[in-house]
Amino acid sequence: MEKKKVLVLPGDGIGVDVCNAALPIFDVLALPIELSFGDIGWSCWENEGTPIPVRTWDQISKSDAVLLGAITSKGKDEAEKALPKELQNKNWQYVSPVIQLRQQLGLFANIRPAHYINGDREPFDLCVIRENTEGLYAGFDFKGIPENLDNFLTHPNIGVYGPKEVAWSVRLQTKHGLSRLFKKAFIYAEDHGLKRVTFADKPNVMRESGKFAKDIFFDIASNYPDITADIHNVDAVALWLVKKPHEFGVIVAENMFGDILSDLVAGVMGGLGVAPSANIGSDIAYFEPVHGSAPKMAGKGKANPCALFMSIALMLDYLGYPDHASRLEVAVKHVIKSRVALSYDFGGDATTVEVAKAIIDAYRNQTEGRTVAILTIGDELLSGKSINTNLSDLSQIAEHKGYSVVRQIVCSDSVGDIEQTISKLAGDVDYLVLSGGLGPTSDDRTRFAVAEVAKESLVFNDCSWRHIESRLTNFNVAVDESNRVQAMFPETAAILSNPIGTANGFSLNIYGTKVLVLPGPPAEAKYLLDKYLAEIVNASNSTNSYKWSIMGVSEGEVGTFLKQRSRNMI
Ligand code: IPM
Ligand code: MG
Repeated sequence: MEKKKVLVLPGDGIGVDVCNAALPIFDVLALPIELSFGDIGWSCWENEGTPIPVRTWDQISKSDAVLLGAITSKGKDEAEKALPKELQNKNWQYVSPVIQLRQQLGLFANIRPAHYINGDREPFDLCVIRENTEGLYAGFDFKGIPENLDNFLTHPNIGVYGPKEVAWSVRLQTKHGLSRLFKKAFIYAEDHGLKRVTFADKPNVMRESGKFAKDIFFDIASNYPDITADIHNVDAVALWLVKKPHEFGVIVAENMFGDILSDLVAGVMGGLGVAPSANIGSDIAYFEPVHGSAPKMAGKGKANPCALFMSIALMLDYLGYPDHASRLEVAVKHVIKSRVALSYDFGGDATTVEVAKAIIDAYRNQTEGRTVAILTIGDELLSGKSINTNLSDLSQIAEHKGYSVVRQIVCSDSVGDIEQTISKLAGDVDYLVLSGGLGPTSDDRTRFAVAEVAKESLVFNDCSWRHIESRLTNFNVAVDESNRVQAMFPETAAILSNPIGTANGFSLNIYGTKVLVLPGPPAEAKYLLDKYLAEIVNASNSTNSYKWSIMGVSEGEVGTFLKQRSRNMI
């Protein structure tokens, strides 16, 4: 098989640190990817008068994808001063290398996903798609108004110091640039199951260019009737992104607005230390962490490599390895959530290399599709009035089938409590097993909480209702209107039929987690879990348990003995 060619351009500042720490992941991935290395950035400018030497352009043209660390960009004066004496005063312009790459390679879409990692908030999964070649970054940035334009560019402030003491920038928007951007936004939403595309602009102030862009946006949106398309002022979008990020899907914006919004969503996600980006065109793409080169931090081993790993995941997806990509993303999230190794920006003191090693280990050790959390619901369990046998029984069933139970939680009957607990766990574990709260009384709120988190309505299921009626009649219990609620299920739920009780269970997917909702009575919960949680065949990392009875030997001696034994076994 022909190998994919990836050019690594570590750049400068912390770009070098994070690349050095993260690149060993390619040995573990063991994919047909060939890495080569090239030069780019500030040191090339300082030594050669260009941040992207011709040889690097040449390497790029022979690659399938480029992985970039970070590049220092400085202002006009500083850039000129940094040049060697013999290259100064030649009017050489430093043009940000990332902007050069984006414009010259036609990488028109800058894709910056942001999703929930941890913390007490509703999970979100959104993506800022930023125009990458035009807008205020088109390069129309001028000092002084030339005479032939002074009739055209009029403003009361210009006359105060005269037309020379003026600087002006043009926001370029072309039908070509906007059409391909919007199309990409809708295709991305479709491919990633996102139901909404929001265009963030400022049409109430930039009336001409705003209307121009808006018409193109809705024209393209009409080809995607299943996706909600809306346009809002960029400032309002910024506000709502902070308050309710879970309400967004794709946010599409012109270059500068997208630049700002993408840092904002990075902050909502946890900081620039975790924010990745993909710069996509038609032939080639480059991937880089959103953070810059942070020159002051360079070489100190403090930088967070998570964003580079997340960018590598985007690159793996682009190169045709979506499974490896999502496993890598899961590994990064695992390291952050479990606090195995946290860099300073997440409140820890782990070094760049330590965080990278933890991510690579997590990738290696992943129990793919096997983690389970058990959530038992009921005030009577918290008060200790009922013994919570479900917690241990359901865990044992899951473990026995080859799963790994990573959380056991008890929560109250309150809808808010149940919703919050589900939100925290959904997307984090492969299976979430709930038991309790499916009865007919007012304290049975589980189905409402699940529907709320899944953003689904409850619909009446005839078949379940007939089951309820016949069971109650058989047991000579009056059928009451209040029982009807037990036949209500979220729209997309699959019913888990329960021949030994009144309440059927149900299952559905929430943020990639399969949620199994079971009734509380222990016999019924056990029966349904045993029936509906598939057994894992070939559980390669299943564990064996041994039981020894030992007298007169200390735990320390046993530990040393076992360590030696396990070494010999490897
Ligand atoms: C980014 C950066 C760049 C940009 C800078 C370094 C030119 O902020 O990638 O978001 O403004 O696009
Ligand atoms: Mg930026």
